[in-house]
Amino acid sequence: MGSWIRHHLSRRPGWMNALMLFCAFMALIYVPWDLFVKPIAVDEEVWFGVRFHGVWAKALEIPHWFVYAAGMVGFWRLHSWMWPWAAVYSGQVALSMLIWPMLYQEAAGSWVIGLVAGAAFMLPTLGLWNARDLFRDKKRKPLCERYGDWALVTGASAGIGSEFARALAREGVSCVLAARREDRLKELGEEIARDHGVDFRTVPVDLSTATGVELLLSQVADLEIGMLVNNAGFGYTGRFDKQDRDRLSQMVQLNCAAPVALAAELLPGMRERGRGAVIFTGSVAGSQPLPLHALYSATKSFDNLLAEGLWGELQGTGVDVLALLPGATESEFVEAAGGLPHAGEPPERVVEVALDALGFQPSVISGWFNWLRANLAFRIMPRSWLALVARDFTEKTTPEEMH
Ligand SMILES: NC(=O)c1ccc[n+]([C@@H]2O[C@H](COP(=O)([O-])OP(=O)(O)OC[C@H]3O[C@@H](n4cnc5c(N)ncnc54)[C@H](OP(=O)(O)O)[C@@H]3O)[C@@H](O)[C@H]2O)c1
Repeated sequence: MGSWIRHHLSRRPGWMNALMLFCAFMALIYVPWDLFVKPIAVDEEVWFGVRFHGVWAKALEIPHWFVYAAGMVGFWRLHSWMWPWAAVYSGQVALSMLIWPMLYQEAAGSWVIGLVAGAAFMLPTLGLWNARDLFRDKKRKPLCERYGDWALVTGASAGIGSEFARALAREGVSCVLAARREDRLKELGEEIARDHGVDFRTVPVDLSTATGVELLLSQVADLEIGMLVNNAGFGYTGRFDKQDRDRLSQMVQLNCAAPVALAAELLPGMRERGRGAVIFTGSVAGSQPLPLHALYSATKSFDNLLAEGLWGELQGTGVDVLALLPGATESEFVEAAGGLPHAGEPPERVVEVALDALGFQPSVISGWFNWLRANLAFRIMPRSWLALVARDFTEKTTPEEMH
């Protein structure tokens, strides 16, 4: 824990860490207290140096809350939008300090106090303005520099895996593309080589067999794999007792055993080199019991927890691990699972969310609605309710004959 905190605090200067902690205090303690506990009659808010009371003050606490929460997350993640926003906000506070005594202090010379307070707030304003490269840095530093020249992407012939390959290639990473459909892999390989000038290798392989996994490992043995994207997977819709036993075993092999074997083989090299990344495509389905997808959600729970455990284990080694938890995503997944079509997020967005989170947190949920579901409902609701509410939904997306 200590080394993780030190590592993250070392990403920005001390004064910026202090601003981050201030934002965290305001977002988590002070503003909620102001909003929910302080009596409305004595409530007061100041915006642009102008004082507001009562109901107006309560209403304006909401944007204040948003500002500090955004500041806390923005400083922590060094989001690129922070550099103009944080400096402009701090500049606005400096201006308010100047306006405030002129409006409300009658004592002679009160403008001097305003000038001094305003000047004090110009210091963080200038600091934040000058530190803009720090916020852009994360975006600027391409993945090939962070992790190395080669990535292995499983399940690259469709959906999320194809988008991972495109996104990595855009950042200069050459890709080993693995899945069963060779024609799709070749087409994608030629596309990324043409569009981004990277190298590629295709490995047509069935990863739902132990021999398939060994074959893939033998095909990458001569490469220094800096990123492993354990993404291949499938779902299987329907009642457990109606499902085919071989297909269930294949799911466990593909969704669980293959990622374990690939990570076990490739992680030691990354650790030795002091840099690398492993992404496990888990699922929000792994955060809850899911009737009519019971085994699938269990396999994804395995992926989610394995990734988070490895993330903790590898802190301070230079190897980043991430559990990516998508919700419904537009891909061939539902059709392959034998489910009824339903809307989902574009896979490009899911991949963007993953790459943005990599190196900052153990897991990421794509989509705000999925985030709400997983963080509020899944944690608060009794497990029995969760399973029954989920069943109402999965019944609608499961063909009648599999109920
Ligand atoms: N789509 C969603 O709603 C959703 C939501 C949460 C999580 N996920 C997870 O996201 C990951 C990617 O799914 P997707 O949505 O992109 O689905 P997809 O479009 O069906 O892609 C699945 C990929 O896995 C490969 N694959 C399937 N069986 C394989 C096997 N036996 N051996 C090797 N490769 C195999 C497929 O390639 P071939 O068929 O060519 O082998 C394909 O490239 C999966 O792990 C899935 O569990 C998806």
